Amino acid sequence: MRVLVLGTGGREHALCWALARSPSVHEVLCAPGNAGTAEVATNLAHDPPDPALVREVALRERVGLVVVGPEAPLVAGVADTLTAAEVPVFGPTREGARIEASKAFAKKVMDAAGVPTARYWSGRDPEGARAALDGFEPPYVVKADGLAAGKGVRICPDRRAAEAAITDLMIGQLLGAAGSTVVIEEFLEGPELSVFGLCDGSDVRVLAPARDYKRALDGDGGPNTGGMGAVSPVPVGEGLVEGAADAVFRPVLAELASRGARYTGVLYAGLLLAADGPRVLEFNARFGDPEAQVVLPRLRSDLGALLLACAEGRLAAAPLPEWSDDAAVTVVLASGGYPGDHRTGLPISGLDDASRVAGATVFHAGTRREAAAVVAAGGRVLSVTGMGTTVADARAVAYAAADRISFDGLHRRGDIAS
Ligand code: AMP
Ligand code: GLY
Repeated sequence: MRVLVLGTGGREHALCWALARSPSVHEVLCAPGNAGTAEVATNLAHDPPDPALVREVALRERVGLVVVGPEAPLVAGVADTLTAAEVPVFGPTREGARIEASKAFAKKVMDAAGVPTARYWSGRDPEGARAALDGFEPPYVVKADGLAAGKGVRICPDRRAAEAAITDLMIGQLLGAAGSTVVIEEFLEGPELSVFGLCDGSDVRVLAPARDYKRALDGDGGPNTGGMGAVSPVPVGEGLVEGAADAVFRPVLAELASRGARYTGVLYAGLLLAADGPRVLEFNARFGDPEAQVVLPRLRSDLGALLLACAEGRLAAAPLPEWSDDAAVTVVLASGGYPGDHRTGLPISGLDDASRVAGATVFHAGTRREAAAVVAAGGRVLSVTGMGTTVADARAVAYAAADRISFDGLHRRGDIAS
């Protein structure tokens, strides 16, 4: 089949790369893609999220499956439009994507489904929010309800900071409409884990867990980013994946289905391993980035066949995913200043040299081709993945390859998976 991947980042390059290796897939298209996806797929100029445009492209190009990378096209209703046009799509409907687009909605679904999560309050009234702080202890966790590109969560050391966060979000409209409803919740402590479930509406296949490194600087310092690196596998208890399938994914799928929102696509559970067991911090409606760049390279199975089985609601008949025993580590090479302002258009050198490191794959995150050169075109520019028999080996491969790449202002963490 021909598969169309929507999106432009490192996750989408990893998706295109894994789909291009899938026996069930003979051609991969990517819209709009980047300089890296162009090596394994045919880039199309269109920039989704416009659902009508995606439908037109999918029908014209006769694709057998559309795989939606980021959340924006899902929230815009791309999956609804494609389903109405009978184009198989891997990604939830607009209603399903609310599990990411509204933290208050996600909390309600978790409550109804009996999924373990932090105790919370949510509402639209600033007075009510301030009063609700009485029910919690410092540090206070104050979250904007809507999509906020990683800026929506504030951990506040004391009541004054929590009230300021409420004022900023609800009255100051710091994050626009995303903050007009807030969620206040209990502060939890423990290691975090990203777990992806491939969902077909009622059933799920839980993929190998990964850990990402969200802060900009070594030692988990500096501001939150989309993710500066990732590792898989992660040492967790044997039963965690099975437990998550039964305690998190299936109940959420059943709850969404009962609300008329059958959920197809990736359900990403951000888990926190608290002393008394795993709790869900958040859901996303897509693969994590850069976690996809370590999970997908470890997948031995035909990714295209798995995603199509999800889109067509027949996961039960599909084979279980098989995994390489190798570990994978990815290191993000970002533009200077990221996650704040940064320059683009800077030429990148050493890409071919890096790809020649045995076990390394250079995924492009924000790049474009300008004449003979590949130039930086985003905050996160590249995601360099290394594979090896141990995490330490994989890490050495990733950094050996990353060392060969340079561009002006390059910033990376030195402690990913260390
Ligand atoms: P979220 O977007 O909800 O995953 O939050 C982003 C980050 O904020 C998480 O990865 C955690 O590091 C932190 N965080 C969110 N909720 C909590 C919580 N209830 N307790 C402690 N940390 C949290
Ligand atoms: N790496 C975290 C995310 O994709 O949301």
